[in-house]
Amino acid sequence: MGVLLANFIPEDKIEEIKNAADIVEVVSEYVLLKKTGRNYNGLCPFHSEKTPSFTVSPEKQIFHCFGCSTGGNVFSFLMKQDGLSFPESVRFLARRYGIDLPRPEMTGKMRQQVSEREQLYKINRDAMDFFHGKLVGGSQGDKAMVYLKRRGFSREIIDRFYLGYAPDAWDALLNYLKHKRVPAEMIEKAGLVIARKDKNGFYDRFRNRIIFPILNMSRQTVGFGGRVMDDSLPKYLNSPETPVYNKRRLLYGLYAARNKCREEGSVYIVEGYFDQLALYQRGVENAAATLGTALTPEHIHLMKGFVKRAVLIFDSDEAGLKASERSVGMFVSEGVEVHVVMLPKGHDPDSYISEFGPEAFYKLAGNALEVMSFLMTTAEKKHGLSVNGKLAILEDLRRPLASIEDVNPRQLYIKELSERLGIDESAVLEKVRETIAVLKREHEIQARRAERFTPPAESMTIHKKRAQKSRAENRLEQQIVAMMLQYPEMLLEIEKSNVLDYFMDNTLLFIGKLILEHPPGTEKGISNLMSMVDDAEKRNILASLSIKEEMWNQRDCRKIISKLISHSPKRHEISLKAQISAAERENNQDLVLKLLGELQKITVLNRKQMNDVLKEH
Ligand code: GTP
Ligand code: MN
Repeated sequence: MGVLLANFIPEDKIEEIKNAADIVEVVSEYVLLKKTGRNYNGLCPFHSEKTPSFTVSPEKQIFHCFGCSTGGNVFSFLMKQDGLSFPESVRFLARRYGIDLPRPEMTGKMRQQVSEREQLYKINRDAMDFFHGKLVGGSQGDKAMVYLKRRGFSREIIDRFYLGYAPDAWDALLNYLKHKRVPAEMIEKAGLVIARKDKNGFYDRFRNRIIFPILNMSRQTVGFGGRVMDDSLPKYLNSPETPVYNKRRLLYGLYAARNKCREEGSVYIVEGYFDQLALYQRGVENAAATLGTALTPEHIHLMKGFVKRAVLIFDSDEAGLKASERSVGMFVSEGVEVHVVMLPKGHDPDSYISEFGPEAFYKLAGNALEVMSFLMTTAEKKHGLSVNGKLAILEDLRRPLASIEDVNPRQLYIKELSERLGIDESAVLEKVRETIAVLKREHEIQARRAERFTPPAESMTIHKKRAQKSRAENRLEQQIVAMMLQYPEMLLEIEKSNVLDYFMDNTLLFIGKLILEHPPGTEKGISNLMSMVDDAEKRNILASLSIKEEMWNQRDCRKIISKLISHSPKRHEISLKAQISAAERENNQDLVLKLLGELQKITVLNRKQMNDVLKEH
């Protein structure tokens, strides 16, 4: 792998770099290390753990993890940690330790051999310089400069984060890079230009926008975000996924936040570019922004080496609640303590700190609740502490609790909740156990579905076995969605019959609802529909159900619909709900719990339905 470029980097240079670079120093940038005897210890950045088994030996200049058996030297550490190639890691360290590498005159052929990733970094770097130059020099960027100034950003912050301006033209960047002899195909691969429909050339992706360069932890430029300066849409445009840009693995500004994060032991996670910049400008330098996606385990891996605590800052109750519920399990198993802050209505971190200043921000953040307490408190506020309120709280919290895989923290939270609610601990435990079983089943269904969409060669045998088992499980639901896509004549009837309410499969339900909202009508409608779906798995299902050619007629369609409705556990559910209401009226808590358990067995209740039960009362 490294051989190609090792041709360009003489052995003795590699040796020199190895001697100059101190592995403890390099690793320390990513992992909080503690000296223990001759070695250093820390939490492994390559797997989830809470007791340090990651060891660095300064004498041997190697690292090894006793937990996951990953090990190597300073180069392999960087390769693994930052996803670099061998030559990339060599160059990175050479730069860092001020060692000059000879830059041989490259022939066309040699140039081809340079890894694609390095080319992409270079193109992005050039583009960043171009955009930044347009913002700060010359008159084209005046409007953008005025915009940034009006939003309160200093020249210092603009330079520190290389903010830029993409001119209002179809080929400004394209021509600039072409002039530098960058092949158009590579510029396209970097996501900076888009091929024209008629296949006749390319045009700039970012036009007339403020540009936010996105740098990874090695300070390589990997992508961009671009914001309009008026109300036009889309407000933000981002680089597409490329070999170097993966938003699940990147946080905006984290590279600049690292030192402060290590000092403070914590990081603030915000949702927008401007939020991160506004915090940074006012001295809250340990902040980073997600790039239009929820926090992932990969994000946590990025930062867990230098923070003990992440503070998530949300501007709306709904978003904060959802994100917290979904990620509790993940945070607990990564051993990162997570706190949640909700901003006052109408504020985001940018507007808040601009209006009230850093002291107020720190005060607010200081009152952040640990994520599980946050969920408990929110649920209490929402439902109150009546009998029904308590049941609803339990209902809200059972999934987050069940998603915690480690028994010990889970048990502690269960205890806390039961104390807060004054409910027997074993009742809470029972509820959580049931939910764990439900989650397990859901996982299996998901895994099965994922298998269905992997290439047959890889999974044929397992696939066949499982397929037999799963059989009719959601076949009717699939048929109905396929019918909606391929035989739109039935849409009105489907809507009237409320058949979607009987769906058990959330993905199919989501797609079905989307179709009702945006009836595709024509072939092109289906591809439009697809562009509204962010999730790759959902797109896959949508595609597969659209593509199958089936012969539809009204009579058969009606049969399928009524079959689904009559086979549905819905009826049983309705009768159970009535019984629950009755038990509630009698304040018979044991019976309510028992019936709720039954209710869960026949259907995977979502919270909304649960609330309905309680409201009916
Ligand atoms: P300002 O309105 O300029 O203050 O930006 P904001 O960051 O406050 O905006 P908002 O809360 O709407 O968005 C937060 C983040 O979500 C942005 O920084 C983007 O990363 C992302 N985002 C928002 N709107 C869009 C969009 O239309 N397309 C994409 N791809 N991402 C968006
Ligand atoms: Mn904002």
